[in-house]
Amino acid sequence: MTSKTNPYVKEKVTTTAWDVLKKGGSPLDAAEKAVNVSELDPRDPTVGYGGDPNEEGFHQLDASVMSGPDGNNAGAVAALESIKTPCSVARLVMERTDHLMLVGKGALKFAKMHGFKEENLMTEEARQHWVAWKENLSERDYYHPPKKEYEHEEGDTINVLVLDANGDIAGVTSTVGHHFKIVGRVGDSPIIGAGLYVDNNIGAAGATGHGAESIKVCASFLAVEKMREGMAPQQACRFVCQRVIDRHNGKPMFGLKIVALNKAGDCGCCS
Ligand code: GLY
Repeated sequence: MTSKTNPYVKEKVTTTAWDVLKKGGSPLDAAEKAVNVSELDPRDPTVGYGGDPNEEGFHQLDASVMSGPDGNNAGAVAALESIKTPCSVARLVMERTDHLMLVGKGALKFAKMHGFKEENLMTEEARQHWVAWKENLSERDYYHPPKKEYEHEEGDTINVLVLDANGDIAGVTSTVGHHFKIVGRVGDSPIIGAGLYVDNNIGAAGATGHGAESIKVCASFLAVEKMREGMAPQQACRFVCQRVIDRHNGKPMFGLKIVALNKAGDCGCCS
């Protein structure tokens, strides 16, 4: 789950997943409904409604779902505008198409075709945050000259990984991406294997933080593969983080967090 998530939202996310499972819902139902809580709550500045917009002041959301009992099937949306629950659209991409990812205008058209309503995702707080950023544009604008060492400012993201009593596993990831990101930027959250990965025989993993680096090491896939080789989830998360650290000569100038869950219900997290 996101590190910046309001504590009330965090609790509601987990209790929602639990309630869905208790009522006989699938792990994917539980993960989707749980992530919807965060997407719809404007107190979470990093996911969906109320999140910080891109550099031009509008939201482009990324999300993915992956479901073990559905044959480890997956769906994703990227740069989706004006829809409050991108993970639910990602689920429909998985369930109602033979595609894996829809982006931008195509994703929006698909969402509207399935009855999603276009809404304004900007809250007053997010607008003020954006204006303050515009008024203080500096090295935090995501553009930088070639070869310059740069300390990235991340946004954040929600991953929910669910294991049910049958041993079935699903995961959902959703994000606004980086605060004030360049229009069209897509991070790791909708990339299967980077921001999310599920193998129903092994476990699941998700990533938050600086998505470009998660993509470069296939972070979630790598964590699940390490669990397949016998690592506990905590070891697997550490392995992925160490891989990233090593790629940056021991001094990564960004944050990245990996969470993982195995079939036995053990979980791990490392940043
Ligand atoms: N991990 C979220 C992003 O980079 O978009």
